[in-house]
Amino acid sequence: MNILLLGSGGREHALAWKIRQSPNTERLYIAPGNAGTIGEGVNVPIVAADFPALKQFVLQHAVDMVVVGPEEPLVKGIYDFFRDDPELNVVPVVGPSKAGAQLEGSKDFAKAFMKRHAIPTAAYMSINKENISRGIEFLQLLKPPYVLKADGLAAGKGVLIIQDLDDAKTELERMLNGSFGKAGEVVVIEEFLTGIECSVFVMTDGNSYKILPEAKDYKRIGEGDTGLNTGGMGAVSPVSFADESFMKKVEERIVIPTIEGLKKENIDYKGFIFIGLMNVNGNPWVIEYNCRMGDPETEVVMLRIQSDFIDLLKGIAEGNLSEKSLVFDTRYATTVMLVSEGYPGNYGKGKAIEGLNEISGSIIFHAGTAEKEGKIVTNGGRVMAISSYGENKDEALKLSYRNAEIIRFEGKYYRKDIGFDLE
Ligand code: AMP
Ligand code: GLY
Repeated sequence: MNILLLGSGGREHALAWKIRQSPNTERLYIAPGNAGTIGEGVNVPIVAADFPALKQFVLQHAVDMVVVGPEEPLVKGIYDFFRDDPELNVVPVVGPSKAGAQLEGSKDFAKAFMKRHAIPTAAYMSINKENISRGIEFLQLLKPPYVLKADGLAAGKGVLIIQDLDDAKTELERMLNGSFGKAGEVVVIEEFLTGIECSVFVMTDGNSYKILPEAKDYKRIGEGDTGLNTGGMGAVSPVSFADESFMKKVEERIVIPTIEGLKKENIDYKGFIFIGLMNVNGNPWVIEYNCRMGDPETEVVMLRIQSDFIDLLKGIAEGNLSEKSLVFDTRYATTVMLVSEGYPGNYGKGKAIEGLNEISGSIIFHAGTAEKEGKIVTNGGRVMAISSYGENKDEALKLSYRNAEIIRFEGKYYRKDIGFDLE
């Protein structure tokens, strides 16, 4: 099969690495890709949101399947664009329809969906400019800290957690007055849940589902989970507290009602569901849904899948996922993200990356990298994810850290405590 993979981050390099291993893969194209995906297939200079350019490419290069990495093209309706075009509708898109992508694209939609299907999630109220006084009343009923979320996509920056009630009221007004642009026209106010988070990934063909290995990511820039939120500084899989009994609760209370809910509401969903969970005293609660795989979780989840990934993706697209086999690798997997100095604030680009041919024992997934005059240089805040296997967490981390040290570029930073809070 000829595959077109959309996106350009560490997640996409990890997906490309796994897709490349399949005997079913003939040609793999990545649009737009990064300096690392050049080693897995052919980079195509088209941005994922340029649907007409993608159409032309798919037709010219006999692409058999499109796999979507990031949320943006899904929320913009790439699935529907292919489905509704007579020339394209024979080419499956792995990813939900525009309606399904609302699970990520609108926090208000996701909360209402969970409420309709009795899926455990924090109490909430959705507020717009017209009913702001109800929002103030709701805030007064809650205990601190207060959680305010911009309804729309906000590149991972749309959630505020505020200690003081008056500050929360002020921030609510600011959000409704445009501090997050259109994404904040509706604000979801939520009860704060206390616990430890983990990410669960589900693949579905709209009928049946398979639960992929779970992972935990580390979102804050600083050690001990301090400082600003980032896209993710590292990840581990498996997650010690996500044992059989916890995962059974996740399946029964969350995964099954989610899949059944999508079906009941006639929402076309053939792709990945990323469930961000909080473990509250041994019980899973949904913090958020995403309509795609996580980054950097994918950089460990792909290591833990032994089965042919294209076979599974075909199962999603063709509606026979239940007949496919999903075998986990029982080893531990870790990834440590090397980032540019200044990230998640302003950072420089174009720094030469050295030492890539000196590493051993890890798999390097590029994120923000580019090729410039034959050299690999930094091209983003998150630069590369150093992924490793081990018989246990410490063994895998030791390899990731050894190689994180070997790779060099000006301003390199990484967290040295990935996995610190787990057994
Ligand atoms: P989100 O963008 O929805 O993933 O939210 C970003 C982060 O905010 C999450 O990873 C959690 O750490 C935190 N968060 C969001 N909602 C809640 C909540 N209701 N209770 C506690 N923490 C939350
Ligand atoms: N690692 C979190 C995300 O991909 O949104």
